[in-house]
Amino acid sequence: MTPDVRAVSPCELLPRHVAIVMDGNGRWAQRRSLTRTAGHREGAKAVRRIVEACSERGIEVLTLFAFSSENWRRPRPEVELLMNLFLTTLRREIRRLDVANVRLRFIGDRSAFAATLQEYIAKAEQRTVANTGLTLVIAANYGGRWDITQASRRVAEAAAAGRLQPGEITADLLHRYTCLADLPEPDLFIRTGGEQRISNFLLWQLAYTELYFTDRLWPDFDGEALDAACAAFASRQRRFGQTSEQVAGVADA
Ligand code: IPE
Ligand code: IPE
Ligand code: MG
Repeated sequence: MTPDVRAVSPCELLPRHVAIVMDGNGRWAQRRSLTRTAGHREGAKAVRRIVEACSERGIEVLTLFAFSSENWRRPRPEVELLMNLFLTTLRREIRRLDVANVRLRFIGDRSAFAATLQEYIAKAEQRTVANTGLTLVIAANYGGRWDITQASRRVAEAAAAGRLQPGEITADLLHRYTCLADLPEPDLFIRTGGEQRISNFLLWQLAYTELYFTDRLWPDFDGEALDAACAAFASRQRRFGQTSEQVAGVADA
C-alpha cells in the first residue's frame, strides 16, 4: 500500500534532489549601492554555504542554475565577469569539495566556453567522480529547451542509424537522453529573488517537482532558509495524478 505521507515525520520527507535558481545577486548589490560584480561574488559565497548545508542534511543531489543559455544576452563585461568568477571559484573550491566527498557534475552546452574553462570542468568532474557524498550539479550554459533538443537529436541519430524504431520512442526512452537521467528526479525546486518563473531551467525534469519561491535574494540564502523550504516541501502532499485519498491509503479510495 502507498504510505500515508502525512504520517511520516518531516525528517523522513527530506527532498533527495533540490534544484535552485539562484536569483537576485544584482538586486542584492543594488540595495547596498554596490556593483553587480560584488553581488555575484557574494552569490558565490552563498553557493559554498548551501553546498555545506545540503551535505550536512543528507540531501543527495543539489542542482544549481549558474548561467542560463539566455544569460549571454547580458552586457559583455558582466558575462566575462561571470565566466572568470566561475573559473576562479572552481579552482579555489575543488579541493574543499573533493575532501567533503562531493561529486561534481556540469550540465549544459560547455562547447561555448573558453578552452581553459572546458578543461577545468572536465578535470573537476574526473577528480570527484568516485566521491559518494552529495552530487553537486552545476547548470552552466544550460537551458531546458536545449536539453530536450539535444536529447531529441540523439534519439533521431539512433533512429537514423537503425538502432531504434520510431515506434519505440516513449517518454521513458527520451528521458534517458536528457540531462540528470541517472539521478533521482528533482523533488524540490527553489527560486530565490522573488520572481515566479522557471526561466528555461529543467523543463522536462520539473514535471512533478514541488515549486517553492522566496523573496530572499540569493546572497542572503542560508541553511535556515533552506530548512524553511524543506519544511514547506515536507508539508505538501505529492499526488502524482492520484487523489488525496489514494495517496493517504484510505481503504475505500
Ligand atoms: C542571478 O542573479 C545570477 C545569474 C543569473 C548569473 P542576477 O544577476 O540575475 O540578479 P538580479 O536578478 O539582477 O537581481
Ligand atoms: C535565471 O535567472 C538564470 C540563473 C539564475 C542562472 P535570470 O535572472 O537570468 O532570469 P530572468 O531573466 O529574470 O528570467
Ligand atoms: Mg535575475
